[in-house]
Amino acid sequence: MADFSTDVLVIGTGPAGSATSALLASYGVKVMVVNRYRWLSNTPRAHITNQRTMEVLRDLGPEVEAEAMMHATPQALMGENVFCESLTGEELGRMKSWGTSPLSKAEHLMSSPCEMNDLPQTFMEPILFKTACARGAEARMSVEYVSHEQDAEGVTTTCRDRLSGQTFTVRSKYLVGADGGNSLVAEHLGLPFEGKMGVGGSMNILFKADLSRHVAHRPSVLYWVMQPGADVGGIGMGLVRMVRPWNEWLIVWGYDITQPAPVVDEAMATQVARQLIGDPELEIDLISANTWTVNNCFATHMQKGRVFIMGDAAHRHPPSNGLGSNTSIQDGYNLAWKLAAVVKGQAGPALLESYRAERAPIARQIVTRANQSIAEFGPIFEALGMDGGVDHDKIARSMAARCDATPAGEAQREALRKAIAFKAYEFDCHGVEMNQRYASGAVVTDGQTPPAPLADMELHYQPTTFPGARLPHVWVFDRKGGKHSTLDLTGKGQFTLITGIGGEAWAEAAEALSLPIRVVKIGPRCAIEDHSGDWARAREITDAGCLLVRPDQHVAWRSPGLTADPKADLSRVLHAILGL
Ligand code: FDA
Repeated sequence: MADFSTDVLVIGTGPAGSATSALLASYGVKVMVVNRYRWLSNTPRAHITNQRTMEVLRDLGPEVEAEAMMHATPQALMGENVFCESLTGEELGRMKSWGTSPLSKAEHLMSSPCEMNDLPQTFMEPILFKTACARGAEARMSVEYVSHEQDAEGVTTTCRDRLSGQTFTVRSKYLVGADGGNSLVAEHLGLPFEGKMGVGGSMNILFKADLSRHVAHRPSVLYWVMQPGADVGGIGMGLVRMVRPWNEWLIVWGYDITQPAPVVDEAMATQVARQLIGDPELEIDLISANTWTVNNCFATHMQKGRVFIMGDAAHRHPPSNGLGSNTSIQDGYNLAWKLAAVVKGQAGPALLESYRAERAPIARQIVTRANQSIAEFGPIFEALGMDGGVDHDKIARSMAARCDATPAGEAQREALRKAIAFKAYEFDCHGVEMNQRYASGAVVTDGQTPPAPLADMELHYQPTTFPGARLPHVWVFDRKGGKHSTLDLTGKGQFTLITGIGGEAWAEAAEALSLPIRVVKIGPRCAIEDHSGDWARAREITDAGCLLVRPDQHVAWRSPGLTADPKADLSRVLHAILGL
């Protein structure tokens, strides 16, 4: 007999664990969450928060989205990504990043009701964790996961209370390992991983210093510094990252992974900060310093029986592209509704297998993308003739050569501009953030073919209602004039059926099912009106057709028009998706 029991036990209160607990609690599932430390993240590691993640927060509630926006540095201050010798030194170039160039901003505005922003992990985690606790999650801090055993009916997990030293057991229907890059849960499951850990070495130096005079005129999250050693070990170049504008900063500087990790004491931290900022007199108020390794590794399976892994436990990669916490929260959004449906008896356990089928390819994609982004700093070094080891004199000569009124100087200027612009694949990679599409048992295509890509799918989001894709966002209106995103009509742990005039039979079919399905009719004099015609252009079905949208806002199935037997079709599709 276990000491405690719950429906789902979550290990870890990072972005993945806190989001999953908040979602499960919101869906009315009993959830317990444990963290080995007494509080949440004490360093602001993740910060770039993309639109898809903000949509998850919006689905948790407008107050959750609003609190995040209140603490976030707004998108408008994120964009002048600078490449320079040092913050006080010569600038090599700049690029508009994170959806702030006019064209990119238009794509962001058209794609989502939410704004990309910079929200340090030290703010994000408390928002998610508080939401989880306020909605009923049982949280136990200073408690660590030790081991687990599963059987046909559930999982028995042994935990240790680090204050008393005592162990206790928790019996749950399901166990989620959201325990980070050194996941013990993943290790105990023996899940297969591809790739390598520890392919580079990096140090984080977190400090306070007012640097307004160097940056306020070119507001950005990231200032990339080209100096001797800048291409060694770390994330592509030296980095001075804004944590809070413009008086809290995180420096990321690489070290050679074949050598022992350096001890970053106050003297070393100050010296590195002075060097990257280019001010030998700079005084910093050091908050913390630590070293970490660059990983290139992902799980090809994320489930064994009743136990799942998510977040960094499943995908381990450098911070390039800012995908870690975002993907971790999105893993939770994928799994939580499925666990809720199974725990509530609305779905069979087969539904849970779609988690791996849908999220493992994303894990592979983002780990590959993040590591590729490090390599893609190479052309900048090459353009300056500084690839393969750099010294001060060589940098000075290369910087000078790029100002020459010669064909070689002109070619160098062009190569540098191109190399910097190519970094859009790291700093303006909207497609990677928004194009996630699923193919699994929880999606029914009925043999329809996916739309051909119209543009580079890494750089650009391509809206579609093809089954497996996220429902496109457009603004629609209720009869009182209230403005809603199409995404706002869905989610909250429930399936939604969207139809239009002539689609009444779909509504009747949905009402006849035992599963609660929200029905939304869009059209003139309907509950929701499409005054601009944007929905008619986005939906890729006729008025009398329907879209069945999953609780995570991905399209489960669509019918281009009314069928001969809507009741039978809807029932067939839902039985397949829910594994009944
Ligand atoms: P995370 O590691 O955050 O949390 C793990 C949790 O499990 C913690 O609560 C821990 O205490 C707990 N735990 C571990 N073992 C346990 C045990 N045995 N028992 C109980 N609890 C246990 N990402 C992003 O999206 N945008 C960005 O801009 C950046 N930037 C960035 C910069 C830098 C410098 C770094 C190093 C990283 C980033 N990231 C990022 C990545 C991001 O920080 C990372 O992907 C997420 O924190 C992963 O969240 P998880 O919840 O999966 O793990």
